[in-house]
Amino acid sequence: MLGIVRDVAGLRARVRDWRQDGAAVGLVPTMGALHEGHLALVRRSLATTERTCVTLFVNPRQFSPTEDFARYPRAEARDLALIEDAGAHLVFAPEAAEMYREGHQTEVSVGRIGEILEGEFRPGFFAGVATVVTKLLLQAQPDIAFFGEKDYQQLLVVRRLARDLDIPVEIAGVPTVRAPDGLALASRNAYLSDSERAIAPALYRVLVAAATNVAAGKKAKAEEARATAELKAAGFAPVDYVAVRDAESLEEARDPHRAHRVLAAAWLGQTRLIDNVAA
Ligand code: PAF
Repeated sequence: MLGIVRDVAGLRARVRDWRQDGAAVGLVPTMGALHEGHLALVRRSLATTERTCVTLFVNPRQFSPTEDFARYPRAEARDLALIEDAGAHLVFAPEAAEMYREGHQTEVSVGRIGEILEGEFRPGFFAGVATVVTKLLLQAQPDIAFFGEKDYQQLLVVRRLARDLDIPVEIAGVPTVRAPDGLALASRNAYLSDSERAIAPALYRVLVAAATNVAAGKKAKAEEARATAELKAAGFAPVDYVAVRDAESLEEARDPHRAHRVLAAAWLGQTRLIDNVAA
């Protein structure tokens, strides 16, 4: 049966019991409003470890004052049913006051990899993510934590903080789950109107075309410009960035022998979509 704990002491007690039984522990951090992409993380954890804990916490510290914290989709009863059906063992669903106790000051900053791309358009976002993920990793002390490649830069930020802070955890990336038309599943897709939803798959199509061309030896800058123009023509406005980057550092792609990633962020009405593909 699925257990639910809302405080760090309860989480630690459960994980301690699992460890005493010799079980490997998987952690799946989420902000709830679960979809198949999250469930793929849960299934991967269940297939890799003996015990899986899913966290549900809409982290206020990764939203700027102008962002959608208040209207971010929340559906705890539905999330719990999905997690139970998937077969996970525990949910950690703290209130904000449990995660950030009175007087909380510490912030985790990962440096440059958190300042470029998403970091440039969402100042403070990765400090918020890095702080809450560091706390979750230290609270649960899992063997493996699972993150989606849909948030590719976030995955690299989390790998960086785990390495730099010597947190003894493996950070596993799980491929993006897509709708049949290619749109990457995301909780914020719920904001899209019918007409925006019809345009949205163009983001993936344009990224795949750019990645294919880059892999075939075309110039990164020309592909970024062409992809940006195609997104604008499809109805995205503004296009925050289309960037062909080194897949590990996310710096400009200069060495054709290294793996590349094409990443983009663009708006449809009030909804900001991000996606990325390997090149
Ligand atoms: O990707 C998310 O849902 C969040 O950024 C995370 C990793 C759960 C931290 O709040």
